[in-house]
Amino acid sequence: MTSQELRKKYLEFFREKGHMIVPSSSLVPSDPSVLLTSAGMQQFKSYYLNEKSPYGENVTSVQKCFRTSDLDSIGDESHLSFFEMLGNFSFGGYFKEEAIKYAHEFITKEMGLKIDYVSVFKDDSADGISEDRDSEKIWKSIDPSLKIVKAGKTDNFWGPTGSEGPCGPTTEIYVNNVEIWNLVFNEYYKDANGKYSLLKTPGVDTGMGLERLAMVSQGKNNVFDTDLFQPFNFFTFLGRDGRIIADHLRGSMFLIADGIKPSNKGAGYILRRLIRRIVVICKINSIPLESLISRVERAINYYNFYKELPINKDKIIKEIKEEVNEFNKIIEKGLNEFFKKYPEMRVEAITPGKAYKFHAVKIIHDAFYFHQTFGLTIDIIKDLAKKSGHIVDEDVFNREFQKHQQLSRTASVGMFKSGLADHSEQVIKYHTAAHLMLAALRKVLGKHVSQKGSNITGERLRFDFSHPEKMTSEQIKLVEDAVNEKIQEDLPVKMEEMSLEEAKKQGAMGVFESKYGERVKVYTIKDNSSQASSESPFSREICGGPHVERTGLLGKFKIIKEESSSAGVRRIKAVLS
Ligand code: SER
Repeated sequence: MTSQELRKKYLEFFREKGHMIVPSSSLVPSDPSVLLTSAGMQQFKSYYLNEKSPYGENVTSVQKCFRTSDLDSIGDESHLSFFEMLGNFSFGGYFKEEAIKYAHEFITKEMGLKIDYVSVFKDDSADGISEDRDSEKIWKSIDPSLKIVKAGKTDNFWGPTGSEGPCGPTTEIYVNNVEIWNLVFNEYYKDANGKYSLLKTPGVDTGMGLERLAMVSQGKNNVFDTDLFQPFNFFTFLGRDGRIIADHLRGSMFLIADGIKPSNKGAGYILRRLIRRIVVICKINSIPLESLISRVERAINYYNFYKELPINKDKIIKEIKEEVNEFNKIIEKGLNEFFKKYPEMRVEAITPGKAYKFHAVKIIHDAFYFHQTFGLTIDIIKDLAKKSGHIVDEDVFNREFQKHQQLSRTASVGMFKSGLADHSEQVIKYHTAAHLMLAALRKVLGKHVSQKGSNITGERLRFDFSHPEKMTSEQIKLVEDAVNEKIQEDLPVKMEEMSLEEAKKQGAMGVFESKYGERVKVYTIKDNSSQASSESPFSREICGGPHVERTGLLGKFKIIKEESSSAGVRRIKAVLS
């Protein structure tokens, strides 16, 4: 089924179940507390409260959404900036029973797909919100053999969007190990002080990513291979870089159609970041900039479900062209200066699939200078850094950015968090914490765990690793305990240089593929038992560093979130305090 057929099928299914079809609202929301529309419920927010819905109690829509929270993950199997969300909503009409039955019927009967498992909310905090036993019962009554996992507030509780609003427990549906549908039961109102109260009439808000539904139903293993990215296949065959171009170009097209222009503020700045990042990726991969426009034209035709695209075709092309050309004029100088300062980061035209050379990790503190002087946005510097295994100190960047841009408070919420702690020291600590955590994960979950990516700021560690299923809260606790135990033991972190072959022989873990024969740094943390015997050390990794000298410097380690990142890959966010 093509994406066009999927949209129709979904809307028709719910129309037959008594829902009114409501068109997508603009990506520019009327709610000033959010910068861009990021969920289907946004245009209906007030109908969960006192306002009467002009469309009746039950509605369905395909909503254009944009999320900046996943910009770093784009290029993997399932994350996107712009996406379409299929949703059905009820404002006091039906509740959990019907919502779950409809979803089950749609996925298994209409789509003929198999649900791997579902998750339901279990209470894990002391804020007066109770466990969602009803959803579990309903799922069991529909399919007694269905696997049900339980998760707490970070995973199975939605909202509110903005500073206050309706919110509630969720139940999520997984197909082919991908989370595809989120059913939210708005039972509560969270006020600006963070207090919850029961809503007078509970409501339903569901959201299913069209791209992910297309991916599982079209038998693809990533969203970029679905028909939705067909107009951009010239780029996507290039791998991660090309996927970023496809995602960003598609997003830019929709943002411009809804009236956004590239600028240095708010949504305009998000658009600018997308287009500038595209320009640099094109340069690095020797992709002619002209190829962008012909693909946008194709996409405008392909996405004729959205009438605003053909109507604004000239404007879309003009804005993209202008921003590309303006930036193209200054980019050469910016990149030259940047590579003069960081010569090891010079990336030549890249053969898809070719491994990058391994370099010692450096922390880039002056990203803001390059931003201010040459217009290199943070995304561009992070892309360059990533290719050579470097780290950008985003806290410094964000702090300076905020100072200079004086973005309004509301516009900057969630986009540019300012860091407080001493950044570079913190970044180094998180580096070492990542090694301890990988070792702990392998101990608790098994040797199939390997690192799939990481992103460190002075405030937290984000870490992706291979593992087929959600971690239980017991496993999370065991990992935390194991890391904290090694911190308490105050173990030395030892660095040795050796050949790659030797490092491999010693069982060192490594993320970067290095050249044969190259010398690499290996960081080893031996715990008390491995120090005394010839047992293998607690952790041994190929890594450029830097690291703390002793684990005792790290403080207390805590996992604050565990979620799916893409098929077979989990993501942990953790903090040190
Ligand atoms: N609001 C929920 C989400 O965006 C369900 O639609 O995931």
